[in-house]
Order: sequence, then structure tokens, then C-alpha cells
Amino acid sequence: MRRAVCPGSFDPVTNGHIDIVGRAASLFDEVVVAVGINKSKARARLFTPEERMDMLREVCAPYPNVSVAGFDGLLTDFCQDNGIAAIVKGLRAVSDFDYELQMAQMNSSLTDVETVFVPTSPEYSFLASSLVKEVATFGGDVSGLVPDTVLEKLLRRLAEVRSEQGEA
Ligand code: PNS
Repeated sequence: MRRAVCPGSFDPVTNGHIDIVGRAASLFDEVVVAVGINKSKARARLFTPEERMDMLREVCAPYPNVSVAGFDGLLTDFCQDNGIAAIVKGLRAVSDFDYELQMAQMNSSLTDVETVFVPTSPEYSFLASSLVKEVATFGGDVSGLVPDTVLEKLLRRLAEVRSEQGEA
């Protein structure tokens, strides 16, 4: 049984993430989409880890061999604890490569886990959760970049943030 992990912050999940998860699901027997729960970055997140995992469960439902989990601490520890042999990462552009290579080499120095790079489909090469949030915050149209259910939750959360900021 070949098990892989697709790790990330997923704040929120985008269509680019789903593209990579779907392709990983066709390469491996089982794929765990793992949400990094970095408590020091919790304030910078728009969605809680539970909300991010719920959205992922919903959008990954069509893939029977994909499950969703959270992890705190080292990704390599999560891999060891869960019998995961490979980390799957999407590469959008050459600019992603430097940091991703550094992380892949660090992770393989910690355990014998392999990192598999999957080139992002060209239509998603510009896509990042941070940009989706920024564009949506200023009223830009991000439909088509995130699943409809995520779009709904994103717009609702941004409206809540705006009203909280108005009250402050
Ligand atoms: O979506 P992101 O923010 O690019 O995801 C980054 C993530 C969560 C995959 C990365 O920060 C990570 O693996 N964090 C776990 C902590 C860890 O193992 N750090 C050492 C990396 S070499």
C-alpha cells in the first residue's frame, strides 16, 4: 500500500490544491491531505484548522482514496506516525522550486521520506490562497479559483471580518 501526503495550510483550499490532490490520488493507493496546525501562525489565518479540514473533506469527497487530517509539529513525524512514504507538492513556477527543494532535502535528511513534485496545471500557475483572500477582500471575482462551497464560506467570513473591524 503506497500512502502519500499532500501537506499545506489550505487557508482556504483552492482549485489548484484540488488539482494536485486529484493527481496524487491517481498515483498513490492512499492520499492524506494534511493541514499544518502552526499555533504561532493561528492569528494570521482566516479559517480555523477545523474549518479548513471541513472544507477539504467536502471538496475531496469525490476521491475515495483521499482522507483529511491535521498535524502539529514536523511533517516528517506525521509521515512516520502514519506510514507515509511520500510527500506530494505542487510546483507552480521556478520561483517555488528553491524553497521546495530546500524543504524536500531537509525532510529527507530527517527520515527516508521522498518528496514528489507535481507541476501545477497551467491554468492554476498563478493561484495561491493568499492572493485569493486579498482579491476577494477588495471585492474581486475569485469564482472559478475556489470551489463554490469554499467561495460561499470565504465571502461570509470576509463579511464577518469587515463588520468586526467596523465595530472596533
Ligand atoms: O501551504 P503552505 O503554507 O505552503 O504549507 C507549508 C507546510 C505546512 C507544508 C510546511 O510549513 C510544513 O511542512 N510545516 C510543518 C513543519 C515542518 O515540518 N517544518 C520543516 C519543513 S523542512
